[in-house]
Amino acid sequence: ELELHPPHFPWAHKGAFSSLDHAAIRRGYEVYRQVCAACHSMDQLAYRHLVNVAYTEDEMKTIAAEAQVEDGPDDDGNMFTRPGKLSDHFPKPYPNEQAARAANAGAYPPDLSLITSARHGGEDYVFSILTGYMDPPAGVEVKDDLYFNPYFPGQSIAMAPALYNEIIEYEDGTPATVTQLAKDVCTFLKWAAEPDHDDRKRMGMKALTLLALLAAASYYYKRHRWSVLK
Ligand code: HEM
Repeated sequence: ELELHPPHFPWAHKGAFSSLDHAAIRRGYEVYRQVCAACHSMDQLAYRHLVNVAYTEDEMKTIAAEAQVEDGPDDDGNMFTRPGKLSDHFPKPYPNEQAARAANAGAYPPDLSLITSARHGGEDYVFSILTGYMDPPAGVEVKDDLYFNPYFPGQSIAMAPALYNEIIEYEDGTPATVTQLAKDVCTFLKWAAEPDHDDRKRMGMKALTLLALLAAASYYYKRHRWSVLK
């Protein structure tokens, strides 16, 4: 069985000199937090990582404090829960893989920290999975508890469609259509997997500028040096 190859979408960050869309990172984190985080961990991410990327320090402290984090042992040797802090990592939806599989018909929702780097097709693939659900074509059987999605290897996926129009409300008033939600969460996931994306391109720009100047200088110098011998 063949699965469909995702198309190349015109992401705002695709150009050699283009940064990630940080308003989209901010909306995408809302999508992750309110939808995907119910099943998918992001072990590599801590609240502090989003400070000065998509949120102010105060905003992020407020968001972190909404999570209940297990800590301890205290002086009496007891574990306890407390509101989250900037230094905490994102909470895990399940205590371990067995619990995750038990809650998802045996399938394991992979950690999303590096998903756009780990999967062929990157953010095009993730966008296609999220928006690619459809009825199976005539003659194709899909097992109970699975959903037809032509972009997933094997075409049957254990994840139910996660996104619906207006499933969350954006604080900036952006209409929360399925494609908008998918675009934003993919931009957020791209940032999570490549937090140095913008710095890397800015560095590239500096390097090209400097090399161009050096090339011009050495060309001038070479002509100058050799002019008496020609
Ligand atoms: C698989 C993303 C929400 C449960 C996947 C995959 C992606 C993904 C990209 C495919 C991974 C691969 O190639 O191996 C997302 C995003 C979500 C979201 C971005 C939010 C917008 C959810 C929710 C649940 C869930 C809410 C649980 C109710 C699963 C499971 C799998 C999966 C069980 C494994 C499917 C299989 O192996 O057949 N998810 N997901 N996901 N997701 Fe999600």
